[in-house]
Amino acid sequence: TVLVSAGGTREPLDAVRFLGNRSSGRMGAALADEARRRGAEVTLVAANLSVPAPVGVDVVSAPTAEELARETLSRGDADIVLMAAAIADYRPAEPAADKRPKDGNDWTVTLEPTTDVLRELGGRRENGQVLVGFAAETGDNGLERAREKLRAKQVDLIVFNDVSRDDIGFDAPDNEVVLVSAEGERRLGKAAKERIAAAILDVVAERLPKPLEGE
Ligand code: CTP
Repeated sequence: TVLVSAGGTREPLDAVRFLGNRSSGRMGAALADEARRRGAEVTLVAANLSVPAPVGVDVVSAPTAEELARETLSRGDADIVLMAAAIADYRPAEPAADKRPKDGNDWTVTLEPTTDVLRELGGRRENGQVLVGFAAETGDNGLERAREKLRAKQVDLIVFNDVSRDDIGFDAPDNEVVLVSAEGERRLGKAAKERIAAAILDVVAERLPKPLEGE
């Protein structure tokens, strides 16, 4: 069983507005599709995908960080969990129930932290589960921050990508990533997200517990 989260959450400011991000969900959709192709039973927890969900996977809609946390954590016993979603770290503390009228004044919004789903999953992991996080970083020491995330969130693999570039990462068909694990790092050259997904699943498959003789 494989659980994939994908897309970008939208956090309501009022009845019609939200805080969001540029994630399209392509990387997560490619992972879900490739896992299904390899014979897994796949659930895709989808936050506002701008690409079609792959055929043959179970799709659960989770547009906000709160819904994504609930739908993911309730399925946290999957053999493989791939957290490709760009989840808001903060959300408006008091979203207005109605549309806020324009009154010419400043609009001050207080943001409160959301649940860190990956960290929760890392803390409560069952033996043998392979847990993968993504690190979308900008700037020079992004790779160092990705290594730190691997340790802090207790995951098997962090897929690091530099989202300051326009040609890869957020809302682009291609990606160029570094797979960071405790054992070492592997740089994958720029390729279609489908190829990157296959390479990620190759590494994940190596980390799955081997079935016992006769099973
Ligand atoms: N993530 C999560 N829950 C959140 C935010 C992020 O599970 N509330 C997951 C993402 O799905 C991704 C990983 O954590 O797999 C990295 O997310 P990112 O926002 O880059 O990292 P953070 O730990 O939030 O670090 P930073 O302080 O750099 O934002």
